[in-house]
Amino acid sequence: MDEFKKVMFEAAEEAAKIHMQYYGKEFEIGRKQEYSDLVTEVDKLSEKKIIEVIHKTFPEHNVLGEEGGNQNKTSDYVWIVDPIDGTVNFAHSVPLFCVSIALEVKGEIMLGIVYSATTGEKYFAEKGKGAFLNGKKISVSKTERLKDSLLVTGFPYDAMNNSDHCIDHFVNFIKMGLPIRRLGSAALDICYLACGRFEAFWEVSLHAWDVAASYLILLEAGGKITDFKGGKYSIYDKQVLATNGKKVHEEMIEVLMKPY
Ligand code: IPD
Ligand code: CA
Ligand code: CA
Repeated sequence: MDEFKKVMFEAAEEAAKIHMQYYGKEFEIGRKQEYSDLVTEVDKLSEKKIIEVIHKTFPEHNVLGEEGGNQNKTSDYVWIVDPIDGTVNFAHSVPLFCVSIALEVKGEIMLGIVYSATTGEKYFAEKGKGAFLNGKKISVSKTERLKDSLLVTGFPYDAMNNSDHCIDHFVNFIKMGLPIRRLGSAALDICYLACGRFEAFWEVSLHAWDVAASYLILLEAGGKITDFKGGKYSIYDKQVLATNGKKVHEEMIEVLMKPY
């Protein structure tokens, strides 16, 4: 895995350099299907650079990237890339965004990195070898109960349609008097959970590139990730419930499974 790791770190560092080169400055901003779903020229430049770094060493590998990727190869290796997770923050000069890169081999996530250039925090995990923040081992919080938890969530760009009951779920948790944050980067949300800052995260309509790297980082930090019913989760699923793996997980399921 050493060669893969080296390439992954180089790709993340190159992307982070591009983020900082443009952060707070002027750049082109476009919109995707939903009006609030932005894509900047920096998203595209970062993804292009990441693909270039990967293909310099592994020209046969596939890249599943939010801004198009490059998937026309026959390979067991897929790099799953979000060149900027937290694009809306980035476009508004809010310093909460990151690059997220994972390596999937024959359907299994083996490596993941999430790098937040503005804070200098680099989260990394290798399957079976633990999770690290700037080289120091991390683990989830020991908080047992939901009533003592700090939650974090996000909303899909079509949240106004209450898709998959995203508004209803939020209201249910708010009505319980629980503190909830909405940072605007699913990858960072899950990494903050992995290092013990949050106890639980849920969201609907996520994509593989939002979660692939932080999924492994969380599991390696001792956390748990399922769908809203507590069933087996894959990064290609839409519903994500991620917690520190304590009783909090069951208590979150109880709320998410409330009938509407
Ligand atoms: C978004 C962020 C946000 C989440 C959205 C994602 P993007 O990714 O992760 O926190 O709520 O669902 O689409 O568009 O910034 O890469
Ligand atoms: Ca994203
Ligand atoms: Ca993105």
